[in-house]
Parts: sequence; structure tokens; C-alpha cells
Amino acid sequence: MKNPGIHIRLLGAAFLFIIIATFILNVAGVYVTRQFMHKRFKDRIVFLAKYLASNSEVGVLIRDRSGLNILALNLLGEEDVTRVTIMDNIGNILVDHNRKVRGPLSVVEAPVVFKKNRDENLLFRSDIKTPFGNIKAKGEDYIGKVRITFSTHGIDVLMKEIAWQFSFLCVCFAILAGLVFYLISRPIVRDVSQLAITARQVGRGDLELRARSGNLPETRALSLAFNAMLDSLEASRKAFERVNQEMIQQKALAEMGRFSLMIAHEVKNPLSIINSSLDVLIKELSLSSNNTMVVYIKDEIKRLNRLIEDFLMFARPVKPTIRSVDLNGMLRDIIERFEIQQQGLAIDIESGIPSAPCNADVDKDLLTRGLSNIIKNACESNNEKGRIRIDASVQDDIWTVEVNDQGEGIDPKNTSKIFEPFFTTRSKGTGLGLAFASQVIKSHGGIVTAENREQGGALFRVELPIKTREHNV
Ligand SMILES: Nc1ncnc2c1ncn2[C@@H]1O[C@H](COP(=O)(O)OP(=O)(O)OP(=O)(O)O)[C@@H](O)[C@H]1O
Ligand SMILES: [Mg+2]
Repeated sequence: MKNPGIHIRLLGAAFLFIIIATFILNVAGVYVTRQFMHKRFKDRIVFLAKYLASNSEVGVLIRDRSGLNILALNLLGEEDVTRVTIMDNIGNILVDHNRKVRGPLSVVEAPVVFKKNRDENLLFRSDIKTPFGNIKAKGEDYIGKVRITFSTHGIDVLMKEIAWQFSFLCVCFAILAGLVFYLISRPIVRDVSQLAITARQVGRGDLELRARSGNLPETRALSLAFNAMLDSLEASRKAFERVNQEMIQQKALAEMGRFSLMIAHEVKNPLSIINSSLDVLIKELSLSSNNTMVVYIKDEIKRLNRLIEDFLMFARPVKPTIRSVDLNGMLRDIIERFEIQQQGLAIDIESGIPSAPCNADVDKDLLTRGLSNIIKNACESNNEKGRIRIDASVQDDIWTVEVNDQGEGIDPKNTSKIFEPFFTTRSKGTGLGLAFASQVIKSHGGIVTAENREQGGALFRVELPIKTREHNV
């Protein structure tokens, strides 16, 4: 059989309890009422017997049967009395009347006494036992007795009726109590069942589903707690999915990176073969080095070569060679090289570098390339003309270099992208210059930032801790 639900069980248990309780109350109530009614009934008959005995005193004394007859017949008129007998003190029946009444029958006797002092108060005394089981007080003579036979049928019928009424009331009470219990328990059970259904549906995958608010404060709190738990589970699931997605993407990127490295490496050799073959062709065909096609091919080979070298430099980890380097001296060398390269161009590089050395443990080659990329960008932004200012300073063990140019500045929408690899706004750029510079500076524990200057142009700031010992390039 199917397992009955909690509501059925609760209702069943409550009904059972109420039925047992009302049954016990019913039985106890009927028993107590029955005892009480029987006692009162018998008391009444005893009173009638005593009353008859008292009235029969003279009649028994003088053997006045007609007077006694009247008394007996009078009593026989009482409901439930079936037989009235009056006897003398030796048991001779003086009067005996009866009528037919349904049983069961009971008998009550009362002595007839002769009172010499006529004290009325003695009439109903019952403190002295006689052979008939009743009174014989001081100053009294036992002269006879009365016997009343009565039927308890009427009281039994009444008791049955009362018992039925009791039972009916108990059943009504049980039904009413059950109904009240059902009405009280229904909202609780309904809320709990609803919560169970929601939990099952969520378990089947309907993750957006939430429990309805309960009808009672307790069930409301329960569904709120349940929903909060679902929200937190949902948030964790989404976070997990995001991380998982990122991991998959990163794995794919790493694969692509490895693949790109391989291609770049493999393209380098054919490129140098093409370059040397072109040189042979130029010689054999006696072409001028100014020939448009030759210049074009040479330019493109150079561009491709640079792209591959930059890419390999950026993507292939190079083991850093750390040694103590005078950073100010290194920066001066870089600027000097630039000035030599820019000779003949209308560009002016101004520098403010302290003459005192600033020694730090760095990879000079990598740092030189990184800083050169920033200065090269400044020259390109200036369109190879105007002025570039480069300053260096040391404060709190931080070596700071600032490169200012007079170019067009950085487009605000690109500020967050310029350090990303392959981001470029220049037709011949690879977009690897700043990415490489940033990578190198970070690996030396430093930071590079960019902003636009109020007076126009861009300002690139490199901050390098001069005591760094960690190099992760
Ligand atoms: N001084 C600067 N002023 C304005 N924009 C700049 C400056 N330096 C860099 N940028 C912007 O940042 C982008 C990325 O620079 P990055 O050096 O990484 O690549 P690139 O200069 O375009 O190419 P490559 O360095 O390979 O020749 C540039 O294309 C340019 O839009
Ligand atoms: Mg650049």
C-alpha cells in the first residue's frame, strides 16, 4: 500500500485520539449519571416507604385494614411502584396490593414503630438496627413493617436515552474537533507539501523555480530560507560555470598561443630564404635597388620579419639575465641611440636624468627593449617632429621615468586596451610594443601607466622598485 501522507497520518492520529477521549468521557459520564439517578430514585422510594410506615402506625396498632388499604392504594398510584405490603410485627400481612409493571424489580422495607412520646423528629430516624434492618429508637416499639416493591424499568429506559444522547454528543464533538484540527493543520501541511514539490522540481533541473511564500509565519520563514539557499546555490553554480568557461577559453588560448609560436617560428626560415633569393635575383637580373617592386617586396619582408620577432619576443619566455645595472645610465644610452636614429628628423628629445647612478638588479636587455618601445611610440605619436621630454627620478626606492610627447594623445575609449597584445591603431604597427613593455616592467615588480596631458599629448609613467629581486619573464 502507498505510504499515507503526513496529513492523513496527522488526521488519523487526531481522530483516534479524539474518539478514544470522547468514548472514555462518554462511558464515565454515563456511569456517573446512572449512579446518581439510581441513588436519587432509591432515596425517593425509601422516603415513600418511611412515609407510609409513619402513616400506618395507628392502622397497624388497631388493625384498621380499610385505612391501611387506602394508604397502600394511594402509594400504588405512584409511578414505578408495583406492590405495597403492610405487615404486623410477626409478619402477618395486613394489606397487600399490586399492579403489573415491567421489571426488573427491587424491594424497600421500612419498620412501623409506635412512638410513646410522639416526637415527630423520631419518625425518620435510622440509627438502630431491627430484625428488618431498620429503626428502633429509645421510647419506640416495633409493631410492623411496610414493603414497597418497585420497578427500575423507567429509570433504565431513561438512562439508555441519556446514554444515547451522550454518545450522539460525543460523536458530534469528535467530528467538530476533527474538523477544527483539519482546518488548522491544512495550511501547514499544504505549505510543507508545496515546498517538497518545489524541491523535487528544482532537483529535476528547474533551477529558476522558487518556493511560494507560506500562509503561516513559520512556513513563510521556511520558504524564505529555502529560497535563500536556492539563490546561493544558483550563484555558486553560475560562478562555477563562469570559471569553467574561462578555463576552457584559457586552455584554447594557450593552445592557440602554442600554435602561433610554432607558425611564427616556421615562417621565419622561408622568409630569410625569400629575402636571400630576392638578393640573388636582383643581382642576376641587374635590378636597381630603387625598383618599386623590389622596394615593395623588401619592405614587406622587413615588416613580416619584425612582426615575427616581436611576437616571438613577447610570447616566448626568455630566461632573464639579472645583474646590477645603473638605470639612469641605461636610460641615457637608450635616448642616445634614439637621437642617433632620429638624426635628420625634426624631432627633439629633451631629457632630465639625474647624473648620480641608480643601481638595481634587472635584466638590462629586456628593460632596454621595453623602455625603447615606449619612447618609440612617443616619437611615432609626434609624427617624427616636435619635442619629447623624458625625465627620471628616484623617490622611496622607486625609480620613475616619465615620457611626454606632443602627439594626438590616447583616444579615451582605447585607454584600457593599449596594453593588450595585438591592439594597435597604427597601419604598420603590430600592437605588441606596449604589451611587451608592460610585461617586462611587471616582471621587474614595476608598473606602467598612461594618461593624456592637459596641454596635449600623452604621458607614459614607468615606476620600478629598485630593490626588486623577483623576475618572472
Ligand atoms: N604615445 C602615444 N600616444 C598616443 N597613443 C599611443 C601612444 N603610445 C601607444 N599608443 C596607442 O597604443 C597602441 C598600442 O601601442 P603598441 O606600442 O603596443 O603598438 P603599436 O605602436 O601600434 O605597434 P608596434 O609597437 O608594434 O609598432 C598604439 O597603436 C596607439 O594607438
Ligand atoms: Mg609601438
